[in-house]
Amino acid sequence: APTEGLVVVSNREPYSHSYDGDEIVVDRPVGGLTAGLDPVMQRAAGTWVAWGDGEADREVVDDEDRVRVPPEDPAYTLKRIWLDDDEIDEYYYGYSNQVLWPLCHSDRGKITYEPRFWERYREVNRRFAEAAVNEVEPGSLIWFQDYHFGLAPKMVRQELGDDAMLAHFWHIPWPTWDDFRVCPQSEQLLEGLLANDLLGFHVGRFCAQFLEGVQACFGDAVVDWDSGVVYHDGSPTLVKPFPMGVDAERIARLAGSDEADRFWRDFCEEQGIADDAVVAVGVDRLDYTKGIPERVRAIEYFLDEHPEYRGEFVYVQKASESRSEIPAYQELQREVSETVERVNDRFGTDDWRPVVSITERLSVRALYGLYRYADLALVSSVRDGMNLVAEEYVAAQLDDAGALVLSDFAGVDETLGDYAYTINPYATEKFADTIYRTITDSPDERRRRMRQMRQLVTAYDLDAWMDDIFETVASLRDESAE
Ligand code: G6P
Repeated sequence: APTEGLVVVSNREPYSHSYDGDEIVVDRPVGGLTAGLDPVMQRAAGTWVAWGDGEADREVVDDEDRVRVPPEDPAYTLKRIWLDDDEIDEYYYGYSNQVLWPLCHSDRGKITYEPRFWERYREVNRRFAEAAVNEVEPGSLIWFQDYHFGLAPKMVRQELGDDAMLAHFWHIPWPTWDDFRVCPQSEQLLEGLLANDLLGFHVGRFCAQFLEGVQACFGDAVVDWDSGVVYHDGSPTLVKPFPMGVDAERIARLAGSDEADRFWRDFCEEQGIADDAVVAVGVDRLDYTKGIPERVRAIEYFLDEHPEYRGEFVYVQKASESRSEIPAYQELQREVSETVERVNDRFGTDDWRPVVSITERLSVRALYGLYRYADLALVSSVRDGMNLVAEEYVAAQLDDAGALVLSDFAGVDETLGDYAYTINPYATEKFADTIYRTITDSPDERRRRMRQMRQLVTAYDLDAWMDDIFETVASLRDESAE
């Protein structure tokens, strides 16, 4: 199997340990990549290398900082890397999230660059690379995740030569060369990534932009545009799109649970949301790429233009704080609260507020209940690698009754764009119009669109995504064995 001896390298860990009073408890993955990869790792019985950031993480590891997981039925090894305060500050908050994140989301204005960020990013990449090298067996596949590890592949390659297969999935966009060359280390990063045998992005456009960048940066690089293979300085790299999916079946099952129903009933009662009210939902990390203020402004415009919906339309916002040490994120948090407050002040009455914010943690069942019963989901990213919230919302639509309002700046637009109600988050009037149209379209039309999207999301789910990647790795192996 292509997953034998698999070594995964990611910044976030799949299981973290914390204290509950004196007791040590384990937090398990609930969503996203860590949740998706966990069952694969359980089958592959490999090793996962990740930052141990749980407060009790050090208490449960062996001499080599390893712990077997899942705790109740150990199937694979989690190798924890400890980061000190400087490393967290300069590698995680610094280079990863104040340079690469805004850079790859084409937002130059948000880049804060400091030389010490780069130094530390390189050091931390070196530490993860060494840890990965220690875990490999002959023929292992090392699979790097995301923008935290732009340099590690080359470091590993230098250690292991052609003895290992290296694959990388870059979960965020890849910008045009004109945007990427803003980066002082554009060349080193490209070289780091070109040490991979396989480099995946969500959509074809990011692959093309990466390859164009390589060509522009290195005079000697040769790109075979038909296959997506690039040759530069050594072995070839296949660059290929793999649009990520979600565990649609599980989401549907949990969305249909009693707990999901109960949550929705209680929530509507608490908030005084009537049965016939139109409920829109937005679920995001509080990140400036998600277009949250733009969304709230569109709702404001919608209520201005369509006063008949005052009292009848509720936007439920579940926004979770993220990377709060970074000034740009603090500013966004402030902007979102101010915008929400303004809209609520302008239109709110004694028994109705247009925007309801959920601040408490939701269980997955509650979240999927919210998805299931919300009439529309608003996904308004100004830039987004994929956006799995859009797919989760669709997967939870057991009655096919809801509608997806989707920015065409999100990668997922390439898969769902034909059936979603497409918007440009900056075009406030049209965004508001689209909300109106979505609500007033015939239920049949909404159902037709949702059914198509559900088929797509179910067919190309998380398993299919992973199979696709592992099959591609297997075929590269066969080729190199020939
Ligand atoms: C994005 C990134 C992930 C990251 C997640 C949460 O989805 O692609 O790599 O884990 O955001 O951000 P955080 O900084 O909290 O890990």
